[in-house]
Parts: sequence; C-alpha cells; structure tokens
Amino acid sequence: MHRPHTHAKEAAPETEGRLIRWAPNYDWWTHILTLGRAAAIREKTAVLAQIKPGDVVLDVGCGTGELTLRAKNKAGSTGQVYGIDPSPEMVGVARQKVTHGHIDVDFRVGVIEDLPFPDNYFDVVLSSLMMHHLPDDLKTRGLAEIYRVSQPGGTLMIMDFKRPTSLLAKSLITLMLHGGMQTGVQDLTAQLTTAGFGQVIMGDMGFRPLGFVRAQAQKQE
Ligand SMILES: C[S@@+](CC[C@H](N)C(=O)[O-])C[C@H]1O[C@@H](n2cnc3c(N)ncnc32)[C@H](O)[C@@H]1O
Repeated sequence: MHRPHTHAKEAAPETEGRLIRWAPNYDWWTHILTLGRAAAIREKTAVLAQIKPGDVVLDVGCGTGELTLRAKNKAGSTGQVYGIDPSPEMVGVARQKVTHGHIDVDFRVGVIEDLPFPDNYFDVVLSSLMMHHLPDDLKTRGLAEIYRVSQPGGTLMIMDFKRPTSLLAKSLITLMLHGGMQTGVQDLTAQLTTAGFGQVIMGDMGFRPLGFVRAQAQKQE
C-alpha cells in the first residue's frame, strides 16, 4: 500500500480531543486492524449516509480522507464535500490524495467544537471512528455544533466502536489499541436527542467491534 509523506505547515488547534499525528501510516494500519475490510466499511458508511448527487457534505474528524473521498463519489460533481480534522498531518495526507487525483474536496484543519461553516449549511454530516477520540462533554458540544451547521432534516451519520459487551469484543477493541472503552456508539442517543436530532436509527457494520447511529436534524425550515 502507498504511504504518502506529508509536511505539516499548520499548527494543530487546541482541543481536548485525541489527535492522530502518525498520519502517513494511518491507512495502512487501519487496513491491518480491520483485517483488510477498511475500504468495505467506509463504502458501507457512505451508503448508509444516503448521500445524493448535489449534496453538501461534511466529514468531521476526517483523518486521511478515505470516507470523505467516497462521499465525494456519491455527491458527484455538483456536490460540495468538506473534511475537517485538527491534525495537520492527517489533513496533509488527505490533501495529497485530492491533489494527485484532481478531486474537488476541501480539507481543512479544524475541530468539531468550532466548525468553520455557517448555520443550516450541510445536507449530510459524517463522523467515522472519531467520537471515541472525544471526552463526553466534548461529544455534547460537538453534536450541538453539527446540529447548528445541519440543514433542517439534514442527516448525521456516525460510525464508531460499539461498547464492548463480550470478552471477545473487549479483546478485539484492546487489540485495536482502544482498551478500557466504557461507552460506545450505541450510547449516543441521549446526547443526539439533547442536541436536537431525531429519527435515530442504529445498526451494525458487519464487522463485530463497529456500529452506526444515524439521525436527522429536527429544526424549522
Ligand atoms: C481514528 S481517527 C478517524 C479518522 C477518519 N474519520 C477515519 O474514519 O479513518 C480519529 C480522528 O479524530 C480526530 N479528532 C480528534 N479530536 C478532534 C476534534 N476535537 N474535532 C475533530 N476531530 C478530532 C483525530 O485527529 C483523528 O484524525
């Protein structure tokens, strides 16, 4: 697998979220940890997000942009797709991919708690393997920010680790360097409702440690 080099130029913003700075190895490592299923998991995430041609889409905590690029495939040439991440190294790798592929996706250094976008802007917001990098109060603040930038009826699609309930799941998550997780994607419902989201749907990703939650921003047109 190609492992691009990156030269970080921007400073990382202050956040209580856990940044990943080892960006050039991230795609390779994710491929290994998902037993070669990372691409299929990302494609399934993009499909579950129900992105349509022409949609305006944000990938929060986009990392190296693997899901963001699939979102662009679905939104097409008339869609606008953005990715933000506080790690300049991750954003650097993502930017290299769009530069090499001549793809129109806007990657920026930024944080979920202060999204650099206007109110009611996005049809779809994505969050993939990011929520578990945030402390609980930052999840609450971040979901409120996502609600602010979502259009009325806009979709929020979160894919992340499930709270491990069996010994096997606990062992798998520990193997994936996330030992000690007390909550999971299935525990976000209350915070989503408080932030203003409704029509919450949950499900599995077809890879035991991972699940998803999808919801709609409930606000007036
Ligand atoms: C495990 S990576 C997931 C990257 C990508 N979404 C994916 O699916 O591969 C978690 C990402 O969350 C980012 N992150 C940490 N704190 C954040 C914050 N406050 N706002 C947005 N992203 C944050 C990290 O820098 C990291 O790139």
